Amino acid sequence: MSYIHSFSAPEQQRLLEQAEFLEKYLYPTIAFGPDDSILEVGCGVGAQIRCMLRRFKPAMITGVDQEVSQLEKALANLPDEVQAGTVDLFASTGDDLPFDDDIFDGAYVFFVFEHLSDPVPIIREIKRVLKPGGRFYCTEVVNQGLYVFPYSPAISGYWTAFNNLQHKLGGNPDAGMHLASCFIDAGLSIRSFIPVPVVMDKRMTDAVERKHFLDMWERCLFSGASALLESGMISPEVPEQVSTEFEKLSHNPETIFQYDARQVFAVK
Ligand SMILES: C[S@@+](CC[C@H](N)C(=O)[O-])C[C@H]1O[C@@H](n2cnc3c(N)ncnc32)[C@H](O)[C@@H]1O
Repeated sequence: MSYIHSFSAPEQQRLLEQAEFLEKYLYPTIAFGPDDSILEVGCGVGAQIRCMLRRFKPAMITGVDQEVSQLEKALANLPDEVQAGTVDLFASTGDDLPFDDDIFDGAYVFFVFEHLSDPVPIIREIKRVLKPGGRFYCTEVVNQGLYVFPYSPAISGYWTAFNNLQHKLGGNPDAGMHLASCFIDAGLSIRSFIPVPVVMDKRMTDAVERKHFLDMWERCLFSGASALLESGMISPEVPEQVSTEFEKLSHNPETIFQYDARQVFAVK
């Protein structure tokens, strides 16, 4: 096991729903042009490609992922776009891209660097294939940025185990905090580096929206449950305890659930 999530069908479906859920938080600070050719490294099942196509109508999106089963699912999720040549998919690691220098107008990476010990070789490689002046957005996790009220000990303990496992697998559960430094090390010019708060508190008044918000987060946490159980880092009763706490949070009007990711925008 080297990947904390799995490549199972439910996890692939979760990535699609996660992208839709996070779209309103992640995208307002992103701008690509309608004629751009855009590269996504770590495109998974094409979830962000669908958002990008909808929002920016770019000329072309090229998705790269090292996992063939993800690309097969991306193809199934974007059949018409691949057929029409608006989307192209490649199996490759991000640090060895099968493209010439200076060919893309833009690039983005979402939720990939948490799985790596050193993202700089990938950032450098993306810089190589970007045109001079090309725009590069990256959004990554900061798992230390999770705040839950009322205090929920099972969620807290589970999250600590999740992050310990990510470290053990060679990843970085706070990769977002390192984005500005890594982009500078790769020779890019930073235009912005901002927190992306994803928050539920009393401002969210719609009961359906509150339930959906917490369901999405519960599923996000459980995307690591099989790996955590397999590695013995949680005991079998823990997922049930975590679910019980999420259920309580969903009925409590005082609940605050906040997660801050980080987003960097840089130019070649
Ligand atoms: C959590 S998924 C995110 C997928 C997509 N960016 C999204 O937001 O829905 C991370 C993806 O990165 C891919 N990945 C991880 N390391 C990679 C690398 N070094 N090169 C290319 N893809 C990689 C994994 O196979 C996986 O599909």
